[in-house]
Amino acid sequence: MTEAVLAIEPEISEATLTVLKRRYLQKDKRGRVVETPGQMFMRVASYIAAAEKAHGNDPGVYRDLFYGIMARLEFLPNSPTLMNAGTDLGQLAACFVLPVEDSISGIFETVKNAALIHKSGGGTGFSFSRLRPKDSRVGSTGGVASGPVSFMKIFNVATEQVKQGGTRRGANMAVLRVDHPDIMEFILCKQASADLNNFNISVGVTDEFMVKARTGLPYNLVDPRDGRVVGTLNATDVFEAMVKQAWHNGDPGIIFLDRINQDNPTPLLGEIESTNPCGEQPLLPMEACNLGSVNLAKFVVEKKGKPTIDYASLGKTIALAVRFLDDTIDRSIYPLDEITAMVRGNRKIGLGVMGFADLLFALELPYNSDRAVALAEEVMAFVQSEARKASRALAQERGVFENFDKSVFRNDKDRRFRNATVTTIAPTGTLSIIAGSSSGIEPLFALSFIRTIMDNETFLEVNPHFMAVAQAQGFYSEALMEKIAKTGTIKGMTEIPESVRKVFVTAHDVSPAWHVKMQAAFQKHTDNAVSKTVNLPRDATEHDVAEIYTSAFDFGCKGVTIYRDGSKANQVLSISGAT
Ligand code: CDP
Repeated sequence: MTEAVLAIEPEISEATLTVLKRRYLQKDKRGRVVETPGQMFMRVASYIAAAEKAHGNDPGVYRDLFYGIMARLEFLPNSPTLMNAGTDLGQLAACFVLPVEDSISGIFETVKNAALIHKSGGGTGFSFSRLRPKDSRVGSTGGVASGPVSFMKIFNVATEQVKQGGTRRGANMAVLRVDHPDIMEFILCKQASADLNNFNISVGVTDEFMVKARTGLPYNLVDPRDGRVVGTLNATDVFEAMVKQAWHNGDPGIIFLDRINQDNPTPLLGEIESTNPCGEQPLLPMEACNLGSVNLAKFVVEKKGKPTIDYASLGKTIALAVRFLDDTIDRSIYPLDEITAMVRGNRKIGLGVMGFADLLFALELPYNSDRAVALAEEVMAFVQSEARKASRALAQERGVFENFDKSVFRNDKDRRFRNATVTTIAPTGTLSIIAGSSSGIEPLFALSFIRTIMDNETFLEVNPHFMAVAQAQGFYSEALMEKIAKTGTIKGMTEIPESVRKVFVTAHDVSPAWHVKMQAAFQKHTDNAVSKTVNLPRDATEHDVAEIYTSAFDFGCKGVTIYRDGSKANQVLSISGAT
């Protein structure tokens, strides 16, 4: 290892160290932390780089390169990689989708497999659409079936009992197709039952449904066992019920199944029916995906006195990140042989970005502006094209993914990729804390706020970009920061210069329309999907929610999630005094 590499120690704040100590840093048998953040990155780098040996490369070279991009907080792999690389668990992916078959043994097999995945820090998505509707006949017993929602409760209880890595509870996504006969019960299920708290739920809608919802037309409900039409519902009524529930407490979300399957790189292997828990990763049943994110805030340089994006350096980091994620596939131990086969067959990876709001602050662009949306497209188009370039180069070195001949790329000389997909935009809930950046592509929640970590520890945080500007322009004071922490926004605070107020917007200053436009801009250049929450003020209406759903559909998003302030009892982030 070179001196230069060892000299890079990650800059880690107090709050971050708390997070790392709880779950990421290795502990001895007595529970004492035995690793520094730098040693954690070295453990991960050397474990992942060992994959290079099989391709005739020197693992030591890549270990140092991988260490460098992580220790400088320019790139981080998803949490399970940081937690489990080089440990007995060895499961490195964050996202899984498991099939739920219409039989008791199939359902309970999946409950078991989900438990194994949760234990390793992964999240699971399921489509319950294949289960026979409630009250259908059960052939072997002559009884009646209890339907998807009642089985979801079993998954929920199992999840509750298996805490991820000791403290993190497993996350689940349940999808039900809008034409399943139990759809209304599903839409209302989280309202009706507290037994589904470990689930995000999403209605899987078709293009046909969305068109009919605009005009109040009926659509068919279909028995998943034989495709028989068993009833009809009015599409507008169902759409409005979804909107009403989402307004009420954030669930259900909506996913656009036809749009997702347009981008399915291997339709011959099956249709995509579900996503992972936070919605950014559509996958086939038994498929998993490793995610990773580059921290855009780290790629701003001064050029001729003006802040600019250092694309040359970003490009190099992207190429290394793609290699890292591809190596991760070979180094990960998956809980089931079928998953290993699927993952090695398609080699999907999901590289995305975090720190986008920080980037906008540095470039002095308001999030809610056409220039910011144009920048989103520019940056993500770059990430996508560099990631594809890197995946093509890896294919030349190591071969295309095993199922390439069954993929949509099979006759395309220019798209001989190592990976069936290369880009995904993750929420980066924990990664952004580690990187000290704004999360994913979200606007900042507040310029100064109380962060609650792992359910109980709280920290007052002031955004470093804002702090720097406040100090440079002479309006910084502790009293002002406290005042901002109470409201979360500086809108209307005349003691702050107008030019600053324009740039430093936060989630609630950004209207829903801008949130959706931003999501669509990133989706345009992302193979998989984009994690984004459209934040709404407490007094938003159901009509606002309906507008968001239809515009997300019109703009080509793959799904959308809304959150109205105060609509859930336990908000992860809260503005001090406001909740
Ligand atoms: O930042 P981190 O890598 O921890 O995760 P994230 O980007 O916030 O979430 C990415 C994915 O990790 C989610 O969509 C889930 O699939 C999974 N996840 C989970 O299983 N359990 C959690 N508590 C958080 C995330």
